[in-house]
Amino acid sequence: MEVDCNFAGNEGWGPEIDERLAWLRENEPIYWSEQSRMWIVTRYEDVEYVSKNQPLFTSGEGVRPGVPKIGLIDEAEPRHGKLRQLINRGFTPRMVQKLEGPFREIVTETIDLIAPLGECDFVSQVAVPIPLLLIAEMIGIEKADRDKFHQWSDSMMAAAGVDSTPEVTQRAGAAFMEYATYVTKVIEDRRANPRDDLVTILAGAKDEGMLTRFDARGGKRDRADWDARSDKELEIANDEITMLLVILLVAGNETTRNGISGGMELLIRHPEERKRLVEDPSLIPTAVEEMVRLVSPVRSFSRTVTEDTELGGKKLSKGDVVLLAYPSANTDPERYEDPERFDIERGAAHLGFGVGTHFCLGANLARMEMRVAFEELLRRLPDMEFSDGGPVLRPSPLVRTCAQMRVRYTPERSVA
Ligand code: HEM
Repeated sequence: MEVDCNFAGNEGWGPEIDERLAWLRENEPIYWSEQSRMWIVTRYEDVEYVSKNQPLFTSGEGVRPGVPKIGLIDEAEPRHGKLRQLINRGFTPRMVQKLEGPFREIVTETIDLIAPLGECDFVSQVAVPIPLLLIAEMIGIEKADRDKFHQWSDSMMAAAGVDSTPEVTQRAGAAFMEYATYVTKVIEDRRANPRDDLVTILAGAKDEGMLTRFDARGGKRDRADWDARSDKELEIANDEITMLLVILLVAGNETTRNGISGGMELLIRHPEERKRLVEDPSLIPTAVEEMVRLVSPVRSFSRTVTEDTELGGKKLSKGDVVLLAYPSANTDPERYEDPERFDIERGAAHLGFGVGTHFCLGANLARMEMRVAFEELLRRLPDMEFSDGGPVLRPSPLVRTCAQMRVRYTPERSVA
């Protein structure tokens, strides 16, 4: 195995990636990759240190090498904090709890469709629709428009990948326009008829004067201008809310989808752990944490060094890019005993949702989604197994992407 590869491209994250990262963690924990032109950080302690040190390792220059910035996740302070404070109101424990009922319905309807079949593709028929439909619900998409929403989100998400082509970008632009037109109507509706939902919260921010807006003419924010204004003078416009709703779509969809399919893969590979969960569903929340640790749906995010510094004995220069390898940190033997073991009661902290000021805004939502999905799946279809050779993985430096996972199970006789 060659140690170096292009860690910013899909090709570097093929089947050999775990071995490569394990070697680096052991031998060169802060590694300069010639092919990627960036530092690769593989130990838990170092990933945590960099993540918690925004002044020295900023997110403000982008966190996904080669991928355009989308906002929030790649914003620097003070704007990041203000924006986050606002969106966070849509993700409080109370809001997440409120979504649990509608989400359980989404899961139930999704399982109803596959339960009598005895066989399905777990990815396209279970893991893809459920987070997508929840975000649709949060954004206020009507049931009749769900298919359209699915197409827009697929097109927009394709352009957020590292292998985007001009055609993909063009399709994404067209989808964004249609989506923006739709969402603008929802925003206007919530302004006129407020509800206890995310869009009402974001729309309400305009009246509270909390945020600036994207420049509608140039499509760019004027950061210096924004920082100079006082909160009173700031406002949030429809196009900025639309952008925030795209961010949630990009950040919350593929991650959760792959958390769910990766989690099911672990359960199928460890029938004895699954049996314990079927017998005692109260263990599902700690099992979900262990799934996020071992699956590490987010593969990597980056930071940019703001001034010359040292890390693990290596000299890092201002402007250098540092890549945080989450799967490696999450299986660091310095941190975890028998790190590769799937132990549903391990209950250990992990970096699967990041750490520090950019800690995953949707972590509570994702945890709820995975818990409810596995509660329903294990109750109704407890004996899933691979058919057709198991999961088909597609290499990516962004998200551990499971493209297909055919499964079979005892069909449910009468649908609940
Ligand atoms: C299992 C599912 C998920 C995983 C593994 C995951 C992972 C992560 C990670 C590692 C970060 C840290 C980024 C950094 O430090 O640079 C992050 C940030 C973020 N996540 Fe998640 N995420 C998941 C689900 C979600 C969901 C469901 C949403 C929303 C609907 C969401 C929204 C966000 C946002 C907005 C940020 C940026 C926060 C900020 O920069 O302040 N995520 N996520």
